[in-house]
Amino acid sequence: MKPRAMAAALLAACAVLWGPSSAEAQDANPVLLALSCAGCHGPEGRSPGSIPTLWGRTAANVLESLAGFKSGQRASTVMGRIAKGYTDTELEAVARYWAQPAR
Ligand code: HEC
Repeated sequence: MKPRAMAAALLAACAVLWGPSSAEAQDANPVLLALSCAGCHGPEGRSPGSIPTLWGRTAANVLESLAGFKSGQRASTVMGRIAKGYTDTELEAVARYWAQPAR
């Protein structure tokens, strides 16, 4: 592999692995966690396209979906992989964040 291709592959791997590690679970920052969701689900959880809107859902509903994705019980294209990258504590924090009233 050429050095440039190697660097690109490493960067891609970092992008995939980037995200809160379990060591940070204790102080999971919901705002930071939610930033990664906003890219697909819209800045306020109001999706501009075909990706489901998170805005207006309860924390319990969001968490139930995330737990289903993480366990594989709920079929998905990307959410299963995304949910597996978070601890249960982090999923709870991010679910509560998205359930807040409009910001
Ligand atoms: C790469 C784009 C992407 C990112 C990033 C992303 N999602 Fe999703 N999300 C999707 C897609 C696409 C679906 C539809 C299910 C599927 O195919 O994976 C979905 C579905 C969901 C659902 C189910 C909604 C319903 O209708 O029941 C929830 C809840 C959810 N995402 C929460 C989150 C949270 C919380 C984050 C951040 C931790 C996040 N998503 C990050 C693309 C994304």
